[in-house]
Amino acid sequence: MTNNNMYFVANWKMYGNLSSINSIKSVKIFNQSKKLKNIKIIYCPPFTLLRPLVKKLKNSKISVGAQNCHHNSDFGPFTGSVNAKMVKSVGCKYIILGHSENRHNGETDKIINLKIKSALKENLKVIFCIGETLKEKRNRKTRIILRKQIMSGLKNMTKLNNIIIAYEPVWSIGSGKIPKSKELNKAIEYIKSLTIKKNKLKNNKVLYGGSVNPKNIKNLSKIGSIDGFLIGGASQKSKNFIDIIKKTIN
Ligand code: PGA
Repeated sequence: MTNNNMYFVANWKMYGNLSSINSIKSVKIFNQSKKLKNIKIIYCPPFTLLRPLVKKLKNSKISVGAQNCHHNSDFGPFTGSVNAKMVKSVGCKYIILGHSENRHNGETDKIINLKIKSALKENLKVIFCIGETLKEKRNRKTRIILRKQIMSGLKNMTKLNNIIIAYEPVWSIGSGKIPKSKELNKAIEYIKSLTIKKNKLKNNKVLYGGSVNPKNIKNLSKIGSIDGFLIGGASQKSKNFIDIIKKTIN
């Protein structure tokens, strides 16, 4: 597989406190290795840790991203919310949008489309999550769902340069289950074929996410179409995260 320019995105979800930030020191040191010069590490902690993490990672090649934002680009009376402008203002370069845990809580394709547009307006790079549920997979609806999520989420957008797609089958998130290699390769190729049409022949990066861990990464990294990984649980321990990166690039 092409192990160059691979992405490793740590999605901390609703975990972590100020002391968790010190634990990534080893990743910062590890990332200085010449061998890693083409890979991209992105940490996406909860909102509360964005600024401290940006500061901690100053003078490093590791970037920071948020895990969501409000769909409204402007400031306004939205208690408890944060917009893309605010995310950008604390030094983030990336943002995860469309995660299934938020879709599950009522986030629609239409809202995700607005969020993506507001993030792009702020020059944030978007990690756009898509994926089918177990029921949809069993009913052989995977392609239909992926197509719908891409077409609606990226509606009225033709330049997709700042969009990285993360294919995360809902049934594999946090379950320890991953798709069969052949199936996964097909899904990734399918996603790429859809975005190539929209993006005037330019290939979009497509990541895989869902139960990636140090044990299954060797097999996952053999799938040539994958451009990187979105890692939840296993990214919270630096040792595991480093292990995943090492096994992918070696
Ligand atoms: P997981 O989460 O690696 O814990 O399955 C991935 C994700 O939800 O992004």
